[in-house]
Amino acid sequence: MGHNLNQNQALIVPRLDVITEGPSMNPPEKVALPTDQELVLKVIPMPADCNANGDIFGGWVMAQVDLAGAVLPARLVRGRMATVAVNEFIFKQPVKVGDLLSFFSRITRVGRTSITVQVEVFAERFSKQGEFIKVTEARLTYVAIDAEGKPTPVPAH
Ligand SMILES: CC(C)(COP(=O)(O)OP(=O)(O)OC[C@H]1O[C@@H](n2cnc3c(N)ncnc32)[C@H](O)[C@@H]1OP(=O)(O)O)[C@@H](O)C(=O)NCCC(=O)NCCS
Repeated sequence: MGHNLNQNQALIVPRLDVITEGPSMNPPEKVALPTDQELVLKVIPMPADCNANGDIFGGWVMAQVDLAGAVLPARLVRGRMATVAVNEFIFKQPVKVGDLLSFFSRITRVGRTSITVQVEVFAERFSKQGEFIKVTEARLTYVAIDAEGKPTPVPAH
């Protein structure tokens, strides 16, 4: 849709500087890594994974979270499964090139054919070794599927 402005109207341009991380924003809270969840993946994003801002592309983070989230359900399913839902996904802080990302996960629900997990992602900035900030948290559901791709019960465990 185009902009049809009359003489009394001004085009409102969003101020990107107020929504991006900058000196005026509070620094992200440093946290301890979880001890009640399992470390399921560690990975370092590279420049090829960047968006146009120079931060890491959200879709890349989502793909890693999907992989990480599947680790614990795979132990129970021991066969084919598919992601049926990303129930919640929150990008709390930007991810930067060179961050060491740690993905922690725990199973929150086992249903008849589905398993839901919580995934939390922590970044150790390249220039701030030993300090961790939470960058992402998500809840995903996986379904055990048979050879035809139909839901099948999660095996007894
Ligand atoms: C996953 C798939 C096999 C499920 O088939 P379906 O007939 O829709 O499944 P059902 O409605 O019987 O639901 C199966 C389970 O998923 C759960 N489920 C379905 N939608 C859900 C949602 N939005 N959130 C949480 N759980 C959900 C159901 O509660 C059920 O769990 P339960 O048996 O433990 O109670 C089918 O939807 C599919 O093939 N989707 C594509 C999967 C895929 O390609 N994933 C990768 C995308 S990139």
